[in-house]
Amino acid sequence: MSSQEIPEENRPAERATDEDAHGHGAVAVADEQNPFANPGLPPHEHRVQDIDERAAQRSERVVAFLFTVSMLATVAFIASYVAIPKEEAIYVFPIGHISALNFALGLSLGVALFTIGAGAVHWARTLMSDVEIADERHPIEAPPEVKAKVLADFKEGAKESVLGRRKLIRNTMFGALALFPLSGVMLLRDLGPLPETKLRHTMWRKGLQLVNMNTNEPLRPADVAVGSLTFAKPEGLEEHDEDFQKEIAKAALMIVRLQPDNIKDKKELEWSHEGIVAYSKICTHVGCPISLYEQQTHHVLCPCHQSTFDLSDGARVIFGPAGHALPQLRIGVNDEGYLEALGDFEEPVGPAFWERG
Ligand code: FES
Repeated sequence: MSSQEIPEENRPAERATDEDAHGHGAVAVADEQNPFANPGLPPHEHRVQDIDERAAQRSERVVAFLFTVSMLATVAFIASYVAIPKEEAIYVFPIGHISALNFALGLSLGVALFTIGAGAVHWARTLMSDVEIADERHPIEAPPEVKAKVLADFKEGAKESVLGRRKLIRNTMFGALALFPLSGVMLLRDLGPLPETKLRHTMWRKGLQLVNMNTNEPLRPADVAVGSLTFAKPEGLEEHDEDFQKEIAKAALMIVRLQPDNIKDKKELEWSHEGIVAYSKICTHVGCPISLYEQQTHHVLCPCHQSTFDLSDGARVIFGPAGHALPQLRIGVNDEGYLEALGDFEEPVGPAFWERG
């Protein structure tokens, strides 16, 4: 086969004017200085695709087929994710019964990845340039002319990849690579639903009665004595509820009765009932439940890092690392004489994450 019949990009003579530089025939004899002689490279053998255009087209179709299978496998991955119920099981020999969803996702993802890799390897082995190159070791720092050569080689490589000529490969490869990331996008759904405004709101709403957390009974004003500290939860929230912990972590209240004359903050007085004030029990530092009340000073203390809040003055912070006052819940009394909420907190409870950038 003459060099005229070999594709331009695969003719070694045109890329390597100095045969020795590429190792062909650079056979050296071992001597005392050079005990390991360079054996050189065996003569270059052209691939069948280099000399037979029909074989090259067959390889092109194989590569395109593999990329197309990858696309189909990615579509199968997405379809499996959407269509197969989580609880469905199938029997797979020899593993036994396994989740049909996991099996389908794993299989389709594996096929999608494998066929992209197999297509790329087959493409490189059969259609890309077949020129053998021996590269001498050189200093790590590349001189400018080497960088220029690398750039030129890169451009040459782009040309030799025959993407311009093999449009079927180019299009199917771009299709496979563009589609495959959709698998990862689909998995983002498993991160769970967005919190939306749930962190800013609690269960409290107008008309919900305040229930004593110890007795589980609705609270009347008479149940709250001066100097006592009562913990309350929203009516309807029971310990056996599935989301009890999630809700109580935001809605827990401290109820304290003060002498109205002792309340310094005007808004606090308006939001109280006969001196009974309701504040969030969740510390605004990092969210510990506050549990210590000093009745002489009307201070409450968080046991975690000793943040101290003055309940007679809008629960402002008077000591410790907490960033802001405890949120107050506006309360009143309903027709049956029970304490009730007159709305939700007007600001998020707990740690002040929303105040940060
Ligand atoms: S959590 Fe209350 S002071 Fe740190």
